[in-house]
Amino acid sequence: MQNFQFMNPTKIIFGKGEVIKLSHEIPAGSKILITYGGGSAKKTGLLDEIKTVLKDFTIGEFGGIEPNPVYETLMKAVDLIRAEKYTFILAVGGGSVIDGTKFIAAAVPFVQADPWTFITDGIAIKEALPFGTVLTLPATGSEMNNGGVITRKSLQAKLAFASPAVYPKFSVLDPVYTYTLPTRQIANGVVDAYVHVMEQYLTYPVAAKVQDRFAEGLLLTLIEEGPKALQKPENYDVRANIMWSATMALNGLIGSGVPQDWATHMIGHEITALYGLDHAQTLAIILPSVMQVMQVEKSDKLLQYGERIWHITGDIPIDDKIMLIIERTRNFFAIMGNKTHFSDYGLGREVIDKILASLESHQMVKLGEKSLVTPAVTRKILELSL
Ligand code: NZQ
Ligand code: ZN
Repeated sequence: MQNFQFMNPTKIIFGKGEVIKLSHEIPAGSKILITYGGGSAKKTGLLDEIKTVLKDFTIGEFGGIEPNPVYETLMKAVDLIRAEKYTFILAVGGGSVIDGTKFIAAAVPFVQADPWTFITDGIAIKEALPFGTVLTLPATGSEMNNGGVITRKSLQAKLAFASPAVYPKFSVLDPVYTYTLPTRQIANGVVDAYVHVMEQYLTYPVAAKVQDRFAEGLLLTLIEEGPKALQKPENYDVRANIMWSATMALNGLIGSGVPQDWATHMIGHEITALYGLDHAQTLAIILPSVMQVMQVEKSDKLLQYGERIWHITGDIPIDDKIMLIIERTRNFFAIMGNKTHFSDYGLGREVIDKILASLESHQMVKLGEKSLVTPAVTRKILELSL
């Protein structure tokens, strides 16, 4: 196992009806800005419920944060908070609203330069306005981690940032709020969480048995419960298990002390920025091809994954075994409803040079756990994904 430090300061408040506890988590006298997305939180009545719980606070609202949150929109919230002197933000929504809120929270006190430089110049984020979240879409793990991904439309760029200053103070996880998710977002959530686990698991062995078995437990849970969520949207236990799996998949725990990959995600972000596919749609296309192209480097963990998750054992040639393992993975994404090739989205060979150029412009030229995913390797991955 590699050396590591692990700390996660986000308090999780999990379960049906727990939104009632919100008022105890926000400092008395706070002036709260509630951030939300395109309107689902309003439509489902969640926003009203929250406002009732927070009736003793001064509250404002900022809606309209897009899926793949956009810098230009977020900066409007930054101006609003500075002008109106809000002291706390409450994000209500999925990964996009939470990521957007992290950016807003960090940008408010950062007056010396354009906050986009957090991302492009790697400037350390030292402080942020405190914020909490009410999660409505289990997928990204943003509710319990310190990262965010922001899109700048004018540059066709979708880039990540991270800082210990942007862990949420708390996150309310009520599985009931996920009942209203459209099928596409249920699928996206399960696939995103699955790929988060894979990118921290499918590398090379470092004798990290705890991390491996936690990761395998999450994968098995997602495989078991994901399809059930599509069939029985209002099954509480199914939703609860998916919600907790997605949070655990990217809160730092399973990634501690192990190598991490993230090539699939970095390639995926470029695809979303260029072609507008949902985050998890990009992952379902790219991960199986990464597994195939990097099969030699990943062979030990691939075989472990195949045996423990898909029960692929026995006396078959290793190459055939690995192809079977990749096929099972692709098939799971398909069962969830996520397509696994560019052609499924009407995209063809023309995407390859564009994605490679974008990756190069963002210095993403040595991806993967051993920095072996160079542009030439990425080209092979993209070819296989057509
Ligand atoms: O905007 P509203 O109206 O709220 O609708 C949203 C949105 O259209 C809808 N939705 C959310 N909860 C709902 C609901 N509809 C009905 N009922 C509910 N309960 O779902 C749509 C998608 O929401 P979004 O927040 O965009 O999805 P997701 O949670 O998958 O977040 C994706 C974003 O997170 C980033 C992605 O790149 C992408 O920008 N990621 C963030 C990570 C992190 N911070 O650690 C890691 C991930 O790998 C990922 O990159
Ligand atoms: Zn993701």
